Amino acid sequence: MRTIDWNDESKNIVLVDQTYLPVELKIIECDNLASICEAIRSLRVRGAPALAAAGGFGMALAVTLSSATSMEMLLKDLKVAGDTLKATRPTAVNLAWAVNRVLKATEDAYDLDSIKDIVISEAIRIADEDVKINKSIGKHGHRLLEDGDRVITHCNAGRMACVDWGTALGVIRSAVEKGKDIEVIACETRPLNQGSRITTWELMQDNIPVTLITDSMSGHVMKNGMVDKVIVGADRITQDVVFNKIGTYTHSVLAREHEIPFFVAAPISTFDPNGWEETVKIEERDPDELRYMAGQQIAPANVRVYNPAFDATPMENITAIVTEKGIFQPPFLLDEVMM
Ligand code: MRU
Repeated sequence: MRTIDWNDESKNIVLVDQTYLPVELKIIECDNLASICEAIRSLRVRGAPALAAAGGFGMALAVTLSSATSMEMLLKDLKVAGDTLKATRPTAVNLAWAVNRVLKATEDAYDLDSIKDIVISEAIRIADEDVKINKSIGKHGHRLLEDGDRVITHCNAGRMACVDWGTALGVIRSAVEKGKDIEVIACETRPLNQGSRITTWELMQDNIPVTLITDSMSGHVMKNGMVDKVIVGADRITQDVVFNKIGTYTHSVLAREHEIPFFVAAPISTFDPNGWEETVKIEERDPDELRYMAGQQIAPANVRVYNPAFDATPMENITAIVTEKGIFQPPFLLDEVMM
């Protein structure tokens, strides 16, 4: 099953609404630009590679619903739709990457219908490629894991964060497929609990042993010899840092302190070779994500809140980055990695 797909009959986007996990596997359809933008903002669909697919399919929705009667008007509609999609979540670069890729593909169009065909087929191609790329990341990355390893992961970099298979969890899946026994420690990933709600659920479905801990327990388990490796995904890799879910930086510092290898698994579409830590906007989310949990108030209603969704891990804390092209060791020269 794919996390997100295009329904060619209804011309809608079909996706797993991840806000219901792990209680219910609910599938929803988005039939207009506003509904896919809402789904992205509310994390019904989430995770950098899945956001790329959502961006591509969002453009497919826009081209399907446009009433433009000339190529010029349609391309203008697409540009506006692309800007709207890109503004939904600013940190994961894959979303903008996919929208820009679809827009670039329209340069080959020669009439109105050809624009429609190009946009839809490019969006489908982006989603199809994601699955192959993740398998490739797993094919290279499984070599980082040995039989018997106990591996910490943060957030969800599994099939629910992608179209299928996953990046960090894809590496774990590939290692297990090779016959290695891997035990996963999943950090809950406050405030939206992608680790406890989604990563544990995914791994249990695949019968991969997983233990849930709170984010603040990672130092304790590392210090007490309960962890061999850390592997996480990424939302944007710049020249100097890896942006990933808030809390990743803390795990990287602790891993370094305890001499535990720290791996990042991500497709090339996550790389931003022109970006630096200070040029990237870290998404700040609704303060109520910290004041309430599952509708229950857990802090004073008017307490001041700081709620960044991502943090930046410096390259010196990273042992290796695995992409669909292979495993890269420091120094991470982005031009070489992306070649
Ligand atoms: O806010 P989210 O749930 O979209 O954040 C997701 C992450 O931080 C993932 O670790 C990252 O996108 C890598 S997914 C393969």
